[in-house]
Parts: sequence; C-alpha cells; structure tokens
Amino acid sequence: MSGGSNQPISQDCEHDAWDPGLYTDNHAFVWKLGASLVDLLAPQNGERILDVGCGTGQLTAEIAATGASVVGIDSSPAMIQEARQFNPQIEFHVADARDFKFEPGFDAIFSNAALHWIPEANSVAQCLSQALKPHGRLVVEFGGHGNVHFLSVALERASQTILGETIRHPWYFPSIAEFATVLENNGLEVTQAVLIDRPTPLKGEDGLRIWVRMFAQHWLSRIPAEDHKRFLDEVETIARPHLRQDTGWTADYRRLRVLARKL
Ligand code: BEZ
Repeated sequence: MSGGSNQPISQDCEHDAWDPGLYTDNHAFVWKLGASLVDLLAPQNGERILDVGCGTGQLTAEIAATGASVVGIDSSPAMIQEARQFNPQIEFHVADARDFKFEPGFDAIFSNAALHWIPEANSVAQCLSQALKPHGRLVVEFGGHGNVHFLSVALERASQTILGETIRHPWYFPSIAEFATVLENNGLEVTQAVLIDRPTPLKGEDGLRIWVRMFAQHWLSRIPAEDHKRFLDEVETIARPHLRQDTGWTADYRRLRVLARKL
C-alpha cells in the first residue's frame, strides 16, 4: 500500500461463505499439516513476513512466535474477525490475494492451503512478487495436480444425478511445471517444488459430509436445501469405494509445495 502504511489497497471481498467455528473444530488438520511449512519458512527475529490466506491465524501466530513481524491477510471477513480475536497482538487485514499492495517490501511471504481457491494465479503471483523485497522468499503449499480427485468426481457426478447438470469443480490444482511458469513469469525464481500425496483422515462417521459442508459450497449453494441430504448420500455412495476404509473416511489430498525467491 502506498504511503508507507500497512493497509492493503484493495479489499474486494463481499462474499463470505466461511464458518470459522466449523473450520476450527473439524478442520484443524489444515494448519497442523501445514506446520512443517513454517519450518521451511524459517522465520527470523525481526523479519517482516506476510501470511496470504491466513484463515483463523493459527500459523500466523506460530510465525509471530519466532519474533518475526507478521501480517495476515484473508478474503474472508469472518476468518479475519476470528483471527484478530485470538491473536489481538498480530496485524490482520481483509484483502484479496489477486489485488493487494503493501509498502515497504516483505522479507518473506508464506501461504498454506489457500491458493487452490484462486484460479487467477497470474494476478496472485504478480501481487506476491510486488510485495517481496529483492531476494525475498516465497514459501507456499496448496492443492496440486490431482488433488481431491475422487472427492471432485463424486461431487460432479452427484450433481448430475440430483440436478441433471454436472457442476465442475472450481479449484486451481496446477502441476509443478504450470505453477513454476506462473511464478517465473512474475520475477520469482523457483528453488524447490514437490508434489506430495497426503491422504488425510476425516474425523468421525460423518467426516465426508462435514468436509462437503465446509468446502463444497460451490455445489451446495446451487442445490435446493431440500435435496442436500440426497446429494450428500450420493456423494458418499460414489466416493465410498475410493475414500472409505475400515477406520473411516480419507480425503485424497495432494499438496504442491514450492519455495521461490524474488529476483
Ligand atoms: C485442500 O485443502 O486441498 C482443499 C480444501 C478444500 C477444497 C479443495 C481442496
């Protein structure tokens, strides 16, 4: 942002479908699995670090605990409200990762489990690059190519059964080559990139339904409320052979983890 202030310039975030309570209670794995990403970031005392898509701020707080000066941004006002409540000492802003600007530059930018929500990867990379100091580091992890394959197939097929129309998944799950190219086109040099299969247990007998209610509003918002139960039953039926074990449901996560630096 101009003028040396820490306010992000653009906040085009009018739609907020996030439920921070559901996120915190049932989806703690989102930041727990991201914890080793903070080790990769290796924040140093006094560094200025930006956490993009910080959600309720658990990892932002972990970064802050190292003595770094961290700013968290997220497009969801509800998430940011929760983040501020639990971490009043940390600076959080509602901001759109496709359209933000800070001044002066950050030593590092961190992002966990956020970028797969934003298909406009070039706009995001442009903002990330602009916000970094020369030689600043970028440490990101999100859904990579093939992420939630069986979950997406179940959601798409169930929408066909219930609505007579296939609702395609909305997420951005690039390959290493695809994402590296986007970063390189925006002045960021990729130093490490890895695609990791990370099957993730979902809590309880209703684990899959709870996951769908939390993350698949793209479908639920288009399906009449009276058909939600039939839709969820159908998703479970289609997914069961692939994602259900004796021990419970598993989400077929695949993570793309990338380290880069600003040229
Ligand atoms: C993920 O964390 O990989 C993810 C979460 C929600 C929807 C799609 C992917």
